Amino acid sequence: MSAPELLPVEVSIEGPRPLVGRLRVPGDKSISHRALLLAAVATGTSRLTGVADGDDVARTRAAVEALGTRLRVSQQGGLSVRGGGFEGLTEPEGVLDCGNSGTSIRLLAGLLAGRPFHSVLDGDASLRGRPMARVAEPLRAMGARIDGRAGGTLAPLAIRGGGLVGRRHELAVASAQVKTALLLAGLQAEGPTEVREPALSRDHTERLLPTLGVDLVPVPGGVRLVPGPVAPFELAVPGDPSAAAFFVVGACVTPGSDLVVEDLCLNPTRTGFVEVLRRMGAKIDTEVTGERGGEPVGSLHVIASPLIATTIRGAEIPSVIDEIPALAVAAAFAEGTTEIADAGELRVKESDRVGTVSQELSQLGIAVDPRPDGMVITGGRPRPALLKSHGDHRVAMAAAIAANACEGASTVRGWRAIASSYPTFSLHLEQAAGGTGGTEV
Ligand code: S3P
Repeated sequence: MSAPELLPVEVSIEGPRPLVGRLRVPGDKSISHRALLLAAVATGTSRLTGVADGDDVARTRAAVEALGTRLRVSQQGGLSVRGGGFEGLTEPEGVLDCGNSGTSIRLLAGLLAGRPFHSVLDGDASLRGRPMARVAEPLRAMGARIDGRAGGTLAPLAIRGGGLVGRRHELAVASAQVKTALLLAGLQAEGPTEVREPALSRDHTERLLPTLGVDLVPVPGGVRLVPGPVAPFELAVPGDPSAAAFFVVGACVTPGSDLVVEDLCLNPTRTGFVEVLRRMGAKIDTEVTGERGGEPVGSLHVIASPLIATTIRGAEIPSVIDEIPALAVAAAFAEGTTEIADAGELRVKESDRVGTVSQELSQLGIAVDPRPDGMVITGGRPRPALLKSHGDHRVAMAAAIAANACEGASTVRGWRAIASSYPTFSLHLEQAAGGTGGTEV
C-alpha cells in the first residue's frame, strides 16, 4: 500500500514555471479498480500492468486479497491475479477498509451483494459522510441484505449477500460507481439486469465486460447485462485523464508551457475537460494511437494560451465531474465569468468541492460565488497564497497548479491527500516545471 506518511505535510511552490516536455501519468484509477475486481472473479489468471499506485486502488487490491484472491507482483511490476470465479471469493475475516475511496466501497458493495457471506465495508471520516443509499437501495431491491448507519444510508455497511434477482434500474443521478456496482451484482443474479441513467457517466465497465465474454448490450439510456462467467484477461491500464487534467490546465495557464502527455485513456466520457478547455481557447491536440480494454488510448499536446470564460452544465457535467477543481483554476485565470451548474454531485465528493474549491480560489484573490449546484468564477490575476487541501487529493493538486502559475511563492497544506490518486504528483510537477518531463515509474 502506498504510504502517505512518506509525503510532506505541505509543499511550497514558487511560480510561474512553464510546464514542458513529455509526461506519463499513473494508470487510470477507475479502470484499475474495475480490472482488479473483475480479475478477482474471472475464471483463471489475469495479468495487469500499469495499475494505479495510489491509496484508493490499493484499498481495492487489499480488499480482493482479504476476500481470498491470490495476487502476485511480477519482476516488471505487473500483477497477476488468480481468479476462481465469483464462488472463489471467501468471507473476509475483518472489516474491508476502503480508506478515502468512494469507488472501492461502492463497487465492492455491488460485488459482495451477490456473495452468500457476511462482510463489512468501512472508510475514513470523509467516506463515512458520503451517501451510500444510492448504491444500497437498488442492491436491496435485487435481494441483498445491507445495513449501515443512519438507517442503512452511511458506512460502515454490513452486507449479507446472495440470492439476487436481476431487474431494471433507473438511476436518479448519473453515477458510474452505482452503475458498476449494479452490473457487478447483476453478473451474479438470476435473470438480466438493466441500468439506465439520466446522462452518460464514465463507461469503462461497459467497455471492458464484453471483451471478457460477458453478454452486455446497449439499450436506450443505458445497458442490459445477462449474467455469466468472466474470462481472465490481460490489460495494460492506460494513463489517467483525471491525473493528466492538472498538468493540462497547468500548461494552459502558465505562459511558455508546451507539454505532451503520453499513453493516456482518451475515452470521451473522461475527456470532457479537453472540450471545455478548447471552448475556452486552449490549444490542445489529441491523437488516438490504439485501443486497450475497449478504451481509446493516445496522447495529448498542450501549449499555453490565454483563456476566456465558458459555461459548464447539463449532460456535460458527468464527463468533467472529477476535473472541476482543475477547470476552476482555468476559470480563475480566464478572462470573464465562468458558470458551473447542475453539478450538485460536487458537494458529496472527497470534500464538498463547491465549498473547498471556492474557498481556495478566494485565497488566490479570485471572486467566486458558490451555488447549491456549482459556482460562478470571475477570472483575474490570481496571487500567491497559503492554500489548503481540505483532505481532498484533487483540491491539493488544483491548488498546486494554480500556485505554479502565480507569480511568487505559495504553500499548499494538507499535501498528503494526493496519496489517494497520485503519490508521484510532486515529482512529475518538479520534472515538468524543470523542463525534464515526468515519467511514472
Ligand atoms: C468513478 C465515478 C465517479 C467519479 C469517481 C470515480 C468511477 O463518481 O467521480 O472519482 O470510477 O466509477 P460517481 O459514480 O459518484 O459519479
